[in-house]
Amino acid sequence: MGIKIAGVGMYVPPRVLTNHDLEKIVETNDEWIRTRTGIVERRIADPEVATSDLAYEAAKIAIERANLKPEDIDAIICATITPDMVFPATAYLVAEKLGIKRPGFDLEAACSGFLYSSTVATAYLRSGIFKNILVIGAETLSRITDWQDRSTCVLFGDGAGAVVYTIDDSPSDILAMELGGDGGCGDLLYMPAGGSKMPASEETVKNRLHFIKMNGRETFKMAVRMMTESVEKVMKKANLTKDDIKLVIPHQANIRIIDAIAEYLGVSREEKFFVNLDKYGNTSAASIPIALAEAVESGRISRGDIIILVAFGGGFSWGAIALRY
Ligand code: ACO
Repeated sequence: MGIKIAGVGMYVPPRVLTNHDLEKIVETNDEWIRTRTGIVERRIADPEVATSDLAYEAAKIAIERANLKPEDIDAIICATITPDMVFPATAYLVAEKLGIKRPGFDLEAACSGFLYSSTVATAYLRSGIFKNILVIGAETLSRITDWQDRSTCVLFGDGAGAVVYTIDDSPSDILAMELGGDGGCGDLLYMPAGGSKMPASEETVKNRLHFIKMNGRETFKMAVRMMTESVEKVMKKANLTKDDIKLVIPHQANIRIIDAIAEYLGVSREEKFFVNLDKYGNTSAASIPIALAEAVESGRISRGDIIILVAFGGGFSWGAIALRY
């Protein structure tokens, strides 16, 4: 049975925060941010806008491009580390906005969330429970960014991307999948407070523990290694050569990470990798579906092209999917 991408969509909030704007907030400069990360600007949601609002906008577009109506969606998976609230899941809030009553849940695998969610959707479709699944990656990372910490606040942004996966009788467009994880690295990239271990208190707020903490150097090294390996593994599983691949759509964290992966794989980054982190920064679970939607909109990929999605994030978690768009 054939699983397909029926439609993709993306949405980012209109407010732009440039590197020059950041120079007024923390001790940093445009040149440092550009050369160390490749990021030029990012989008920030207005205070009254929550993750489900961004997710809804992206979802509407993906459903429309799939030539479906919201009622055709059988289930919703929302990948996010910035849900509107702990519960109910953001997936239900999006369903309400779409005007449908459907099962759904949020999946938390940090920046790998969309990729993990896509593998879950694939398994559901193969099992025959559902026919059309909406998978969303949506984040308002600006809410968990420490705007006093220059080592992290320059990296993140807000946005959402969505994909409708469907199943029919033709051969599957999902060619191979690969997932990995290492819980031993949890303290290299995490948000310490706000969960059951350290519930919100005056102390946690005072100590700025409700924000992303990251060991940038170690994260960088692992991201390069595991994303390179993941691409190699899915290529092998799907019997693909470099020439077969039209485009790699990597998690958009840092241009130097993407450059290093391209170098290890022995391909041209400009030719084979999609990059839009200059405009949006790192939007965690939203980064791959936003990039996928832009790759489609800009004509970088067309129907029939073979692409690889590859992610890395907190957990650590990582993975790749080889598919025919
Ligand atoms: N502006 C100016 N200087 C800065 C800034 C800043 N915004 N941030 C750090 N510096 C300084 C540091 O203080 C340090 O100064 P020192 O040498 O005097 O101590 C110097 O710059 C170098 O700092 P490093 O942290 O070593 O810089 P590095 O080259 O490693 O770049 C970065 C930092 C950009 C965070 C990089 O490590 C990185 O991209 N890591 C991976 C992060 C990542 O990909 N995360 C995403 C994966 S998971 C997810 O998406 C949630």
